[in-house]
Amino acid sequence: MSLFRKKNVEQMIASAQGTGLKKALGALDLTFLGIGAIIGTGIFVLTGTGAVQAGPALMIAFVIAAIACALSGLAYAEFASTIPVAGSIYTYSYATLGELAAWVIGWDLMLEYGLATSAVAVGWSGYLQSLLAGFGLKLPVLLTAAPGAVPGAFTLFNLPAFLVVMVITTLLSVGVRESTRVNNLMVAIKVAVVLAVIAVGVFHVRPANWHPFMPNGWHGVFGAAAVMFFAFIGFDSVSSAAEEVKNPKRDLPIGIIASLAVCAVLYVAVAAVVTGIVPAAQFASISHPVSYALQVAGENWVAGFIDLGAVLGMLTVILVMSYGQTRIIFAMSRDGLLPKTLSSVHPRFATPFKTTWMVGLFFGLIGALVPLNVLAELINIGTLAAFSMVSIAVLVLRRTHPELPRAFRCPGVPVVPILAVAACVFLMVNLQPVTWIAFGVWLVIGMLVYFGYSRRRSLLAHGQTQR
Ligand code: ALA
Repeated sequence: MSLFRKKNVEQMIASAQGTGLKKALGALDLTFLGIGAIIGTGIFVLTGTGAVQAGPALMIAFVIAAIACALSGLAYAEFASTIPVAGSIYTYSYATLGELAAWVIGWDLMLEYGLATSAVAVGWSGYLQSLLAGFGLKLPVLLTAAPGAVPGAFTLFNLPAFLVVMVITTLLSVGVRESTRVNNLMVAIKVAVVLAVIAVGVFHVRPANWHPFMPNGWHGVFGAAAVMFFAFIGFDSVSSAAEEVKNPKRDLPIGIIASLAVCAVLYVAVAAVVTGIVPAAQFASISHPVSYALQVAGENWVAGFIDLGAVLGMLTVILVMSYGQTRIIFAMSRDGLLPKTLSSVHPRFATPFKTTWMVGLFFGLIGALVPLNVLAELINIGTLAAFSMVSIAVLVLRRTHPELPRAFRCPGVPVVPILAVAACVFLMVNLQPVTWIAFGVWLVIGMLVYFGYSRRRSLLAHGQTQR
């Protein structure tokens, strides 16, 4: 039965008051935090992959992925507004599904946020190198990408990807307030860039390029939806910031849903524009598809502006992903499931300083050494699995804790959460078999750690609730 031991929800809410983390964020900060996490490598880099797979029907693929996210997002928002405690769905499931499920979800989220940090750093590195190339500057080939990432080239270490994670880690380690201000500025730049793509690109669209609309049929569209799901990941990180929000019950649901809606509209428009300018199949070997489309249109200045904006804008994604990662580890350590030292708070900066640096170094190295396509699929499967579990958990919580005040209630229960699970599982089924195998291996390692360490060290096992 110990596998199903649960945290007491009321106690969790009460104990969240005294953790030492600053309460500095409002609804607009959270929406910006969400957009900062969402728009990044997905739209700027993976759009090319998606266009090759789905053709101009990439627009539909984005809509399918957005629907899956919106359904899960509604469940997420209910949890976020009920249990405003650091650690995102890891924490929520600890109170509802029990310790083992919480461990699986936390372990899953470590994969999501950690690898997303690495993946976006790789995408950033590609755009930086394209920007530098515009000025005639080139890195030694050896230092441009991970081993085996570029067919026919001998590459060893993605130096820009590693360095950018180090810079972001420095920002995060000195405090959320400073990082949030930087984030708000970057988001403004990124949204401006995306709007520029749409506003300038729309005049170069040739509707003939939208035929055939679905060159690979629905199979291609669904495959693209499963990959492009990556482009929406990040809205959930808003809920990881719960303990640092001034008025979580009102602000969290607004932050999650507003950031998701804004990005969905922008993505469909970008997909329409770039596939309207360039025949979709031509994106096959392009690592900067969005600025490439503008180059093809003859808008070289705008393309350069996009390169620069993408380089600046992707910084925020790395920032928010690393942030989410450190806060999940913080929460798991505070519960005794991971070593205690990982939840110590810096006396001056009021941040989990040590954890931030350990995570930064580790995932900086992964970004330097593993190719982007491998990272993206793994991130998607981990995230989709976690989203399915949170949708199930919202149903459980309605039964086990019907009396809890919920500032936001997921509409259409049980239909909406059930549809969310169906949508997530559907996207998972459309990922590569090798991704399923790698995900299985990750879960097995997680089980070994849980049964070898965490189960006995869990504070709940010793009758305590918090360090
Ligand atoms: N959604 C984030 C991106 O597209 C992870 O980069």
